[in-house]
Amino acid sequence: MAADGFVIKAFDEVTSTNDVAAEYAARSAGQRLVITARRQTAGRGRRGRSWQSLDGNLFFSMLFEFPLKDLGVLIMAASLSLAEAVRSLVNTDDVRIKWPNDVLLNGAKVSGMLLEKSIGEYMIVGVGVNVAQSPKNADMLYPVTSLKEAGTDISPEDFLALYLRYFSINIALSADELRRQWVEQAKGIGQEIAVRQNGAEQRGIFAGIDENADLILRTGNKTQKILAGDVFYLGDENG
Ligand code: BTN
Repeated sequence: MAADGFVIKAFDEVTSTNDVAAEYAARSAGQRLVITARRQTAGRGRRGRSWQSLDGNLFFSMLFEFPLKDLGVLIMAASLSLAEAVRSLVNTDDVRIKWPNDVLLNGAKVSGMLLEKSIGEYMIVGVGVNVAQSPKNADMLYPVTSLKEAGTDISPEDFLALYLRYFSINIALSADELRRQWVEQAKGIGQEIAVRQNGAEQRGIFAGIDENADLILRTGNKTQKILAGDVFYLGDENG
């Protein structure tokens, strides 16, 4: 099946769809693939964390050639598309992007994304969407939710098709336009946040993102760019 220029390869069970995408990248050049799986036995999250594969949720990885110098465009287009796809399905306005590329629905995480560089110019955009259920462990870093919990019933396949339509439109936008739309839909711009990275924490005002999608943090009259980390919203009881 082809969707918006991507050939979809659907599996029942894989370790991680990102791993399968990397194997395809090694085989031959010029492929534009989406790898999906009903189950992942070793799903990976950002910053070395694992990603649980709960039944009925969506797990997929897009594989295509994209210049690394334009990584910011990819991060913005991929996360903006997720937020737009979610927003088009739910009957609440409370859909926000959480830097760098999570989507929050009613203040809780509904999807996550793991971008990885593969061989040559291949990029892998791995996405997990809590379609049917959300993990309920007590040690979650953030509150989590699912589309189902927000009253939306959709199959993983239909959500993927919707997402690919938004992505094919957004990836063609300029970096400036993507940044404008991303900032408009992000949570916490102009507010105090903490960014945690490797045990260290920095606090400041979330001033926006630059063209590389790096976070701009303002502390007093000092501005710094943050390339990686976990954001917590201060003054938000859920963090
Ligand atoms: C995060 O929020 O930490 C990112 C989660 C990314 C999970 C997806 S599920 C499909 C793809 N395969 C993986 O192993 N990870 C990504």
